Amino acid sequence: MHIQILSVLPELLESPFNHSIIRRAQEKGLLEISVHQLRRWAVNEYGQVDDYQFGGGAGMVIMCEPLVKAIEELSASEKFDEIIFLTPDGDRLTQTVANQLSLRKNILMICGHYKGIDQRVRDHFVTREISIGDYVLSGGELAAAVLVDSIGRLLPGVLSDETSALFDSFQDNLLAPPVYTRPEVYRGWKVPDVLVSGDHKKINEWRYDQALKRTMEKRPDIMKDEF
Ligand code: ADE
Repeated sequence: MHIQILSVLPELLESPFNHSIIRRAQEKGLLEISVHQLRRWAVNEYGQVDDYQFGGGAGMVIMCEPLVKAIEELSASEKFDEIIFLTPDGDRLTQTVANQLSLRKNILMICGHYKGIDQRVRDHFVTREISIGDYVLSGGELAAAVLVDSIGRLLPGVLSDETSALFDSFQDNLLAPPVYTRPEVYRGWKVPDVLVSGDHKKINEWRYDQALKRTMEKRPDIMKDEF
């Protein structure tokens, strides 16, 4: 999969993609990430990419021209399956959305800043608008990092234990069950007997029951599709 990102602050994306699972995905050749400085397509020699909004009001808007030039230039060498704009008024990112996007080959993500991007780019180029939650970030970069991470870890071969993503919270409309590690007793607090029983059928049943219980207690809303 190739993910390209347009941003006026590419530096913000250096660290998230250079560690842990997303770094490994790139090293294994399963994921390529290209971050482009939008100012490369600036409208003048001062690197301008934004302007005041028509109708007045505080905050600058990223202009059509740099975005359209960037999209058209990048599209010439790669046909995008999705052009995603990260925005608080987009569709909420869920595990289902991450699963869908992990099946695409070429994705372009546009990070907004200031007041956002000119609506005409959204109308004519963007295929999907995604929000990572009901709060406003200073720009789309951190949201893009979250989106790339949620997609990248799902690509086949990225996680060393192939099955582990299957047991993530949300993957079955259930939260993940509690987990424990050594020592078996810490300050007198003992791990549940079943987990050290060696009986894998019982362990799986226990995990499923715990996942159900946790989901009913904390997030009954995500279970509604299943029951
Ligand atoms: N840009 C600013 N806030 C955002 C959010 N919550 N999700 C996605 N992109 C954003």
